[in-house]
Amino acid sequence: MLKHEIPAYQLLFVNGKWKKPKEYKALYAPFDQKELTKIPAAGEDEAEDALQAAVGAKRSMQQMAAHQRSTILSNLAHLLEENKERAAELIALEAAKPITTARGEVARTIQTYTFASQAASQLYGETLPMDAAPGGENRIGYTTHEPIGVIGAITPFNFPMNLVAHKVGPAIATGNTIVLKPASQTPLSAFFLAELLEEAGLPAGALNVMTGSGRVIGDKLVTDERVSMITFTGSPEVGKQIRGRAGLKKTTLELGSNSAVIVDENTDMDHIVPRCVQGAFAFQGQVCISLQRIYVHDNIFRTFVDKFTEETKKLKTGDPMDEGTNVSAMISPDDADRALSWIREAQDSGANVETGNTNEGNVVLPTVLTGVPSDQKVSCEEVFAPIVLINSVSSVEEATGEVNDSRYGLQAGIYTRDIQKAMKASEQLEVGGVLINDFPTFRVDHMPYGGVKESGTGREGIKYAVDEMTELKLTVINNNF
Ligand code: SIN
Repeated sequence: MLKHEIPAYQLLFVNGKWKKPKEYKALYAPFDQKELTKIPAAGEDEAEDALQAAVGAKRSMQQMAAHQRSTILSNLAHLLEENKERAAELIALEAAKPITTARGEVARTIQTYTFASQAASQLYGETLPMDAAPGGENRIGYTTHEPIGVIGAITPFNFPMNLVAHKVGPAIATGNTIVLKPASQTPLSAFFLAELLEEAGLPAGALNVMTGSGRVIGDKLVTDERVSMITFTGSPEVGKQIRGRAGLKKTTLELGSNSAVIVDENTDMDHIVPRCVQGAFAFQGQVCISLQRIYVHDNIFRTFVDKFTEETKKLKTGDPMDEGTNVSAMISPDDADRALSWIREAQDSGANVETGNTNEGNVVLPTVLTGVPSDQKVSCEEVFAPIVLINSVSSVEEATGEVNDSRYGLQAGIYTRDIQKAMKASEQLEVGGVLINDFPTFRVDHMPYGGVKESGTGREGIKYAVDEMTELKLTVINNNF
């Protein structure tokens, strides 16, 4: 049940103004496929307007004092706090994210903008001991962080507020301007942000929001020389195309994963199982660090599977607006069909279904598989659905090999009471982040976040995104002059 009226958002946000587009596209709620509104489908000339606005605002953002940028971001965090229930409803409605999970995303978004506000006033450089090299005597050298310019931000549907915040927050903190292209399925959260940023005092043109086809807007941003950086979260396939076409632009790519956890013998299953169930099925598994593969020591394998299956069966599926719902609809009917077909393929190759493997409309029931061969899509591709596999291993070393047998490497977890095994696994796991005694789905918003292999390049997490979004400038003063 909605408590707030959902705005229609039928205008593009360009140069501080709300502009009528030439074309619209219907937006449907993933849960019941009801039409929510018609959203703008920007064309190339509208994307050009947005780009010109971002270029035009570059100077005013570059010249804005750090304390002013910081204040805009803290104003935004406060406005979001005041409107948090409305924000959560928008996310729940457009993404079918269960409302309690959507509230969690809004709370994280407030944190992300708060970290960004702090980062704006902490852009420290360093002084260099110039005389450490012969010829450097009588010189003072120091570095500063300069804004990179116009940033093209392309964001996914799964965290329509917080993953936008991870791009917009550090971009504003560092004095850049942005053209934001949100996922076509979740534009409402991005327009809501634009409204709040207007109220928070952001100058016209510093943020421009373009909804529409990725091929039109995304292509424009990726190939236009006035854009200095692309920050993208999405699939490896699109990420590779961006990298191939972006020329000399900086690119931060946060791509997918088939994240795994290792469960050693002698671990506390009563604690681990509910946590892992949450990691596998939160937001229908549509999270880049969703727990997709679990490797459990032989000695505890059957007990672990039974407990895991029992816990999974407790999850409540249904309408994202219901307070009790844990798992709701996939983002599109095609994605629900794809998930079910991948389960069938795994079954045909000998995997067992412990629970799930069916659907209610667009809701795919949480599915637990065992005995899945590693060449199955549910194992080696990013499943992005409520499907998890549990396989048995004879040692942590064997499990580490299984985890690394992947084209992805975002985050991995290991549960063990043996610190040496944990440290060895941390050294050997080919991922951007290792979580010892936790699932790989753990993230707080100031930690470095990003992957290796096809999981991407560069890091998010405000401090790390600030480095990506600035150019390091060196100044040397010659005292002998
Ligand atoms: C993602 O899906 O990449 C983001 C995960 C998170 O922020 O928790």
